[in-house]
Amino acid sequence: MGPGADAVWGAIGSETAPWSFAASSIVAPNIPSDHKRPLMTEKRVLLIIAGGIAAYKALELIRLLRRQGRGVTCVLTDNGGQFVTPLSLQALSESKVYSDLFSLTDESEMGHIQLSRAADLLVVAPATANILAKMAAGLADDLASTVLLATDKPVLVAPAMNVRMWLHPATQANMATLAQRGVHVVQPNEGPMACNEFGPGRLAEPPEILQAIEKILAPAPGLLTGRPLTGRHALVTSGPTHEPIDPVRYIANRSSGRQGHAIATALADLGARVTLVCGPVTVPDPPGVTVRHIESAQQMLDACRSALPADIAVFAAAVADWRVEQTSTGKIKKQPGAAPPSLTLVPNPDILATIAAAGPDRPRLVVGFAAETDDLMENAQAKLRRKNADWIVANDVSPETGIMGGAENAVHIVSAAGIETWPRLAKDDVARRLARRIAEVLT
Ligand code: C5P
Repeated sequence: MGPGADAVWGAIGSETAPWSFAASSIVAPNIPSDHKRPLMTEKRVLLIIAGGIAAYKALELIRLLRRQGRGVTCVLTDNGGQFVTPLSLQALSESKVYSDLFSLTDESEMGHIQLSRAADLLVVAPATANILAKMAAGLADDLASTVLLATDKPVLVAPAMNVRMWLHPATQANMATLAQRGVHVVQPNEGPMACNEFGPGRLAEPPEILQAIEKILAPAPGLLTGRPLTGRHALVTSGPTHEPIDPVRYIANRSSGRQGHAIATALADLGARVTLVCGPVTVPDPPGVTVRHIESAQQMLDACRSALPADIAVFAAAVADWRVEQTSTGKIKKQPGAAPPSLTLVPNPDILATIAAAGPDRPRLVVGFAAETDDLMENAQAKLRRKNADWIVANDVSPETGIMGGAENAVHIVSAAGIETWPRLAKDDVARRLARRIAEVLT
């Protein structure tokens, strides 16, 4: 098995230690020392949650917005409060939740005019037929509708309702009125509904709503928006591979996929379009990332090839080094008294080396991983040359380091220019720092 990243990378740690360099001339050495600095200016979204079964998706939307570095203030309608609690909204948004128009008259509270202006964007998700009708008619009979009428900021609505209600001429006329007034819309999706009907009316998925929000908040590409990988395509491999023996058995390894998935997420957070090719894992697909699920090393290679061209490729998967030469089409039977079957193994293709080989489709930056117990730097440098990678993320997994299966990890970034030693980091911090490093080199 290739070492991949997950077998060895720890889960908790703090990103406090300074950088150290074993070589002075590393590629693009000017990493900001203040890593806690937000990657984006904190623009605020006022999120209005109206009453509908899809209100639960607002919780995921808040999580995505916070991860994106956006501030979120929630306004919950009375009906919305039937589906989600102010407490969960407050916990996720880390801000006070507003729902009562008349509690805002107190001097110490924010007035509804101020609330509607303090945000950079108002988002209504889910937007029910009722709140859309109120918006179209200019009604202001509760906090949400009052704020929507008082605002001077862009408004985005994500409708969600029963298919008949959505297709009703009244709703469609209201939508046309709102569109004419410049209200942005994330169209509802088509599919089975909570009411057992089928058709358009399902709330768009949180990553789709996030994308629409980002389009309004950060229309210009590149560094100015804090998303320096906008317009880039990144290919990431993650997880183990399963090499079949027969229809029910396979050879596997213990990779969880967490590190590779965190890298895919971190690259997407910086604006990259990410294709994640992953083996069988239990971690969820990262939102906003195109995921190709595969099982064997050969399938992983095929999926990587078909994802090209890419600007960046990060190979964090723990690919099985060998596969069974002859897989059996039927289940291999245990024969009483007979010797156990012997398996002949043959080498798997080296995916990193194949994609990194010189050619028109070679990504501009190719990053591999190396876990070693002896001669870490020499082995990592040899791997760098042998596989034609640009960087190898190397770590020492000797038992005395406590890294194997431990909580912390310490990596070195090995490149042709030298070796950069990072402090012990949490898995997500490693991913974020690696993504930032990649962005610095490519921009
Ligand atoms: O040669 P070794 O397995 O130590 O190399 C590890 C690196 O190569 C990792 O980045 C891993 O994802 C990649 N690899 C690969 N295909 C293989 C074996 C390893 O992409 N068959």
